[in-house]
Amino acid sequence: MAKPKTYYITTPIYYPSNKLHIGNAYTTVAADALARFKRLTGYRVWFLTGTDEHGQKIQRQAAESGKTTLEFVDEIVAWIKELWKELDISYDDFIRTTEPRHTEKVARIFKRFLEQGDIYKGKYEGWYCTPCEAYWQERQLQDHKCPDCGRDVELIAEEAYFFRMSRYASRLMEYIETHPEFIQPPSRKNEMINNFLKPGLEDLCVSRTSFDWGIPVPGDEKHVIYVWLDALSNYITALGYGEEGSLMETFWPADVHLIGKDILRFHTIYWPIFLMALDLPLPRTVFGHGWLLLQEGKMSKSKGNVVDPRILAARYSTDAVRHFLLREIPFGQDGVFSIEALVKRINTDLANDLGNLVSRTLTMVERYFEGILPQPQAEESSSDRELKQTALETPGIMEKLMDDLKIGDAMAQLWKLIRRSNKYIDENAPWDLAKEPSSRQRLATVLYNLVESIRFISVLLLPYLPRTPERIWAQLGLQGQPDLQSWASLQSWGLIQPGTKVCRKEDLFPRLNLQEELNRDDPAKAAPKVRPEEEKPGLITLDMFQQVEVRVGRIVEAAPVPGADKLLQLKVDLGEGEPRQVVAGIALYYRPEELLDRLVLFAANLKPVKLRGILSQGMLLAAEDEQGRLALTTVDKEIAVGSRVR
Ligand code: MSP
Repeated sequence: MAKPKTYYITTPIYYPSNKLHIGNAYTTVAADALARFKRLTGYRVWFLTGTDEHGQKIQRQAAESGKTTLEFVDEIVAWIKELWKELDISYDDFIRTTEPRHTEKVARIFKRFLEQGDIYKGKYEGWYCTPCEAYWQERQLQDHKCPDCGRDVELIAEEAYFFRMSRYASRLMEYIETHPEFIQPPSRKNEMINNFLKPGLEDLCVSRTSFDWGIPVPGDEKHVIYVWLDALSNYITALGYGEEGSLMETFWPADVHLIGKDILRFHTIYWPIFLMALDLPLPRTVFGHGWLLLQEGKMSKSKGNVVDPRILAARYSTDAVRHFLLREIPFGQDGVFSIEALVKRINTDLANDLGNLVSRTLTMVERYFEGILPQPQAEESSSDRELKQTALETPGIMEKLMDDLKIGDAMAQLWKLIRRSNKYIDENAPWDLAKEPSSRQRLATVLYNLVESIRFISVLLLPYLPRTPERIWAQLGLQGQPDLQSWASLQSWGLIQPGTKVCRKEDLFPRLNLQEELNRDDPAKAAPKVRPEEEKPGLITLDMFQQVEVRVGRIVEAAPVPGADKLLQLKVDLGEGEPRQVVAGIALYYRPEELLDRLVLFAANLKPVKLRGILSQGMLLAAEDEQGRLALTTVDKEIAVGSRVR
């Protein structure tokens, strides 16, 4: 038998300094859906999560709580494990950075770096952000605060160990350039190159002496190892790095490190460099997803507006919370959590589309065939063929999207099949067929096809809503029949046996009353106290604004589009090597020759479209007044092409 293909996926390891919120749960639920999908499609999967337990912040918080540091983290880790159980997170291993299996290996890694001359001893002077556990140079601070989180930084001057990042910088740059799948989504790649690699990598301070809650530097124990070097190593220590016959052989390099965009720098610069220094291959993909925001912006403990995922799951069900997280937010972008959005998703997708499909179908099999699945006719109508074809095509389409980490898009395909099935009911109006004894055969076919389609849907739901398929199978009479619940069973239509006894039970997802849900008052309710100016409709957060990538570009070619008197075809240089081709509706206002060499503002992350058969890869920004005059937006002095407008 061929060896199964393998898939290694990781989440960030969380700081057990507080209970986790719905934003943390988002990363892990997404990783879980990917892990489950891969298992379903026959991969041998290793799914790792865990906790990042060292560092000054945790030590301080523990001290404030009056517990020992280990007691403090033990309690939170137990809470986190409960959370993952409630959210059905199917991890294969949970690593804690305080475990000897981790600490011993990190000490060995540090020693190797020292011996290789990658790490040397020097003096550190700079600014430290404790919540981010990150060092900054004076010039990197913004308004004298941490440029990542905006909080206060502390001045630190001490003897310390440094990692020679510069040794590996050009290799890393080349790797990033030649492996487009390494940093995902692609928009994040330029950010890393332009903001960190191009300006030149400084050596990284990898030890501390001002606290002792960490892994001691081997041979110089008044220093502890920098928490990010400690934490990042978890991805290999958990596989038994350095041990004979360890899981490293099967699973390294990781297929996906799934992380939030906030920690991309650590994963796409420091981590690959550490791996290069260890002579290990680099992970295939580091995917930095967007933020889950509240209507008033970021969630934070200090604002007191965090949403507790355990309370949410207890109230709305695990599958409903998972569904919301995975379906509502285009994976990679920022999204907004609100009770209103959650309730609407539950009502539309789960109660109306999915729940109604199952309950309508089973009610009719009970009403018209005493609950016994009838034998379909061989003859097919065009609507039968379309339903069957959609069902047979959906698994393949979803698989491709999941491979591209487009989780929400994959679910959208599944919902397309669910909606197609509901439409099939309306097209065939079984209630009318039931009135005509001569249509009995047709009625049997329609109901059989619906039940078979629900079988397809139930299997495809497994990675996302893991509890729902069992509930559907209980109603479909499919319990304990793995052959009808497998990915392989989606290759053939018509596997469910006529004669199967179906039984309509409870509604899968009862409809919720939005007003009642909004009136509830508890910590899981994200009903932030908004200030009046934030209530104005149409206001967006800075993060939302920044989703549009506006850059400065130089027009390097301009020509009319034959047969289209309003359009010009342009080439715009954004400093990416190859200029972008764009079609712009400005021919009535500008002659091609007057555009050449001009610097203009350009929306750079729009999906390409074809206009008059010409591919347009972005959009020039222009202002238009009420008289229909149009003016291109530009910059008021010379600046590098590709510069971001913020
Ligand atoms: N301990 C480090 C990670 C080390 S990995 C080697 C850390 N921990 S954390 O607990 O602060 O956050 C971990 C992750 O939680 C973030 O990277 C991100 O994936 C996720 N999120 C935290 N808040 C979030 C939102 N509001 N929205 C989405 N994800 C968020 O950083």
